[in-house]
Amino acid sequence: MTHTPTSAVATAVATDGAALHAGTASDPILRVERLHKRFPVSGARGSSLHAVDDVSLDIGRGESVGLVGESGCGKSTLVRLLARLHDASEGRILFDGQDLSEIPALRFARSPWRSAIQMVFQDPTDSLNPRYTARDTIAEPLKLLTTLTREQEQSRVQALAEQVGLPAELLDRYPHQLSGGQKARVGIARALAVQPRLLILDEPTAALDVSVQAVVLQLLQRLRQELGLSCLFVSHDLNVVRLLTDRVAVMYLGRIVEVGPSEAVFRHPRHPYTKALVSSIPGQGPRIKLSGEVASPIDPPSQVCRLHGRCPIGQDVCARQMPLLRAIGDDVNHRAACHFIDPA
Ligand SMILES: Nc1ncnc2c1ncn2[C@@H]1O[C@H](COP(=O)(O)OP(=O)(O)O)[C@@H](O)[C@H]1O
Ligand SMILES: [Mg+2]
Repeated sequence: MTHTPTSAVATAVATDGAALHAGTASDPILRVERLHKRFPVSGARGSSLHAVDDVSLDIGRGESVGLVGESGCGKSTLVRLLARLHDASEGRILFDGQDLSEIPALRFARSPWRSAIQMVFQDPTDSLNPRYTARDTIAEPLKLLTTLTREQEQSRVQALAEQVGLPAELLDRYPHQLSGGQKARVGIARALAVQPRLLILDEPTAALDVSVQAVVLQLLQRLRQELGLSCLFVSHDLNVVRLLTDRVAVMYLGRIVEVGPSEAVFRHPRHPYTKALVSSIPGQGPRIKLSGEVASPIDPPSQVCRLHGRCPIGQDVCARQMPLLRAIGDDVNHRAACHFIDPA
């Protein structure tokens, strides 16, 4: 697997027509184009909750991309669309050039594409079958998606356990007999079993004790380097994202409001929302607090900036025109969606 340097790697854009993905990698492993997900609102006919709103994002080969934003902004919905756990309302998901949304769900479940994208879920307790031993859990994708003999399968399970630091004697234990960190390792081994090319991690350590989090994060960092995996790493822990990712995309109310090299975004955030988010990291200078509440994701107005009403620098135009992602200064890979970004 070839590694693409961050500078050459794609970035996220949500513009129209030909400018889409301008300045991005020529050959990303994943390309998301203008993806939308609307959920029907019960008891309100014709209304929908716009959980993912016009998201475009590329992930380069071997690249680690972070996805941050407060709870409810659409991170899990976005990654679930990518893993085909939801169908998109609109837009395309190109994996290695193949439009995944064109593959019917039934065929997709047993296609090579199913193995190519694997997910590690937020809560290892929720996502492990209580009636499966660790061995059964790790072997399950091998049974479904490969033609290994039982013997080959078992030696693969052993190798995976070793790879994630799970002692072999724990393989016959059930989830309730394992610690949080051990369950997390089982979830990671399951995701790695079929040798995915893109690993999606949705808050992989959020359910763990702080002391265990660091150990699991180190494991993930090591695996990523060893395997040259492309990763999409969802977290609300900004320090962790800064450490583990090459690029980061910031979401607010279903939309990407800023994207760029992680160091640049954390060191010099440009969008007012990112500035507030980054200021919440201890030691990052004065805390910027946005006034008011996050607007409702139900039937959001199409031409109003999502931050309008809370934004410290908002003006009239923000209520008339949706700002799109555009390059900031010289670095085409650093983009923000704001009418009033100060010059670099
Ligand atoms: N299956 C669903 N049906 C209806 N609404 C949903 C569903 N899943 C998520 N949502 C809504 O979509 C929005 C985004 O949620 P989610 O993707 O879970 O955000 P995050 O992972 O960033 O916390 C929220 O308003 C949430 O209530
Ligand atoms: Mg979530």
